[in-house]
Amino acid sequence: MKQSTILALIPFLAGVNSLTTHQKPARFDVMAVSDGPVQYRALATSATFFWLGKGDGWTDSHCPPNVEKAGRCPPGKDTILKDAHTLDTVVPGQVIYVDSNYAVRASGPNSTHIDSGSETGGFKYVPGNRYGQWEYQGDGFDGFLACPYNNGIYQVFVNSPDAKPRQGVKLDTCVPFTAGAFEYRLPANVTAAAWEY
Ligand SMILES: *[C@@H]1O[C@H](CO)[C@@H](O)[C@H](O)[C@H]1NC(C)=O
Ligand SMILES: *[C@@H]1O[C@H](CO)[C@@H](O)[C@H](O)[C@H]1NC(C)=O
Repeated sequence: MKQSTILALIPFLAGVNSLTTHQKPARFDVMAVSDGPVQYRALATSATFFWLGKGDGWTDSHCPPNVEKAGRCPPGKDTILKDAHTLDTVVPGQVIYVDSNYAVRASGPNSTHIDSGSETGGFKYVPGNRYGQWEYQGDGFDGFLACPYNNGIYQVFVNSPDAKPRQGVKLDTCVPFTAGAFEYRLPANVTAAAWEY
């Protein structure tokens, strides 16, 4: 999400506006909205993992050269969800799941492979005032956790007491965060936010 978009959202985040959105938008991006070190950072997927980095450019997406040559690649710059557990892509079926370390992951593209010991349920979209919330409900815990990775980047986990951040990172340095879900509008000439992530 662009810095200017974030600035424009701050009045809504502060609750100045009270228009309620009851419908799930066709697609949405996610931003940490709770106070703390990851506030206003956009959720980004790269190499099947999910991250909260500082500023733009953390999303990794791909578009084949022949499609690129024809000028038909979708923007691919932001990580967009089309529902609580699916990425918004031209190549279908990139599903969001939780691996055995409680890290949030995405499958594919072109592969339904999901690590053994993974959990595919539990994600949901909850409507709210001006923006919705992306939520996770596990067995005896809920919500998301941001764990320090390196250079100020955080990796996204679900908020389990058994979450295993990267080696050398203590679980008590991770911070829970609220994941705001914001409607994302596509340019008129594309059908998904990315070819594939
Ligand atoms: C959509 O329109 C923009 C601006 O004209 C252009 O740069 C882009 O290549 C187009 N994308 C597709 C998929 O047609
Ligand atoms: C996945 O399949 C699509 C459609 O056939 C193709 O364009 C894309 O390059 C494939 N991606 C990978 C990583 O193989």
